[in-house]
Amino acid sequence: MGTTDTFLAQKKMSDEVKADLAKDPSRYIMLTGDRPTGRLHLGHFFGTIKERVRLQDAGVHTNIVIADYQVITDRDTTADIHDNVLNMVIDYLACGIDPEKTMIFTHSAIPPLNQLMLPFLSLVSESELLRNPTVKAEKDASGHALTGLLLTYPVHQACDILFCKGNIVPVGKDQLPHIEQTRQIARRFNERFAPVFPEPVGLLTEAVEIPGLDGRKMSKSYGNAISLSATEEETAKLIKKSKTDPERMITFDPDERPGVSALLTTAALTTGRSEQDIAEEIGDAGAGALKAYVTQSVNGYLAPIRERRRELERDIPFIEDILYEGNERALCVAQATLDEVRDAMGMSY
Ligand code: TRP
Repeated sequence: MGTTDTFLAQKKMSDEVKADLAKDPSRYIMLTGDRPTGRLHLGHFFGTIKERVRLQDAGVHTNIVIADYQVITDRDTTADIHDNVLNMVIDYLACGIDPEKTMIFTHSAIPPLNQLMLPFLSLVSESELLRNPTVKAEKDASGHALTGLLLTYPVHQACDILFCKGNIVPVGKDQLPHIEQTRQIARRFNERFAPVFPEPVGLLTEAVEIPGLDGRKMSKSYGNAISLSATEEETAKLIKKSKTDPERMITFDPDERPGVSALLTTAALTTGRSEQDIAEEIGDAGAGALKAYVTQSVNGYLAPIRERRRELERDIPFIEDILYEGNERALCVAQATLDEVRDAMGMSY
């Protein structure tokens, strides 16, 4: 078996899984996650959260890691982490993640998950680690020296996926090298010791990429993101100060008019209409009218999510319970897998 799956091979696997998933969802175990570095925004919502809810409701076994150890791969403080983790749980629930169906847990609460890191690290080479494009990009973005944890985080991500025998991971194209690495680790472990792990498939989401308000990728660090937790006023303010251009006639042209086009896409996703349709309706009423329309659509779309958020925020002990229970469940799953791993390696004493 080849060790490198090409993009086309991965795409083919993804398509096959998608077709089979509709027939037999209960065969699939999804694992995905987020780094708790801030609040979830519209980019997360349209990019992955909606898809998770869809898989959850279709009957797939769904698991979400709040990757708290991954926060310190490229920054040296955990100052807001507790608050960020609780708010992430609130965001998930407000968006329709159901903790009865989806196991939500944090890295740091699951020692046997983290212990998988030791055998897994023995299965990868230094050059494989150094080759990972995301590791390189994140190192450059961080402005830090490459930490050992950043260098090895794709292996840690393999622990996240494999501890619960995850066999599908919804990803964007840029995350495929991680899945490739995870498949390699699973394959090598199974060949060297005993068949314990599935080889997970990256489920390529037709990522609806919602641009940030300036047309770049939506990201909190660019200041162009609309968080789910923002108030209606904050949302209006952010949209109001987004950069457009002096041309009064509104047209959809992402290359030449990134600001105007980003606003049109935001309105399109939150109303279900097309960008062209909205552009025609606004016509020569200008950017001000467009912004008013976007504000109204976004606030209207997010209203029920924000309403649920406000209710959940009032009951933090409930949120803590959800996380506690998710962690308890994940701990059992991880312990069972680690037992199998130690058996396979002849290390059960
Ligand atoms: N790296 C992912 C992110 O930054 C979060 C993550 C952690 C993850 N572990 C994972 C995603 C395992 C998929 C599978 O968003």
